[in-house]
Amino acid sequence: MATWDLTETKHHILLCNGSSCNKAGAEELTQAVRAEIMARGLDHEIHTTRTRCNGRCQDKCVLVVYPSGRWYKDLKPEDASHLISSLSNDNEKLSNKVSFQYNGIAFERTEETVIGEKKIQEKVARVTKGLSMDKQ
Ligand code: FES
Repeated sequence: MATWDLTETKHHILLCNGSSCNKAGAEELTQAVRAEIMARGLDHEIHTTRTRCNGRCQDKCVLVVYPSGRWYKDLKPEDASHLISSLSNDNEKLSNKVSFQYNGIAFERTEETVIGEKKIQEKVARVTKGLSMDKQ
């Protein structure tokens, strides 16, 4: 357990460790990203959190960075170095791996990213554990 001081944190990386991403190598990606951060001495600037499913399983392995509001897809452990470089240098951004980018109003999907399903209440309730339409 830990309670970190986040006052110097500039980037928060959410590493999807849901089942689809885990089957596609999320553990190895998580370790590679964290090792890259540590090797560069950036632990005070970049905070990481493992998450459950982020709802974009076809994009496995999924990773999200805040506050830039950038979602990544198809990430592999070998992308870790480029990813960490891209956080401090926008010219190095991993354009081919970006799936969504927040534009100040909403998330814009990149061209080759799978559209995904519209969020219909019944479907959302079906895939959300512990949430049933009866309880609303
Ligand atoms: S398991 Fe990663 S987005 Fe669903």
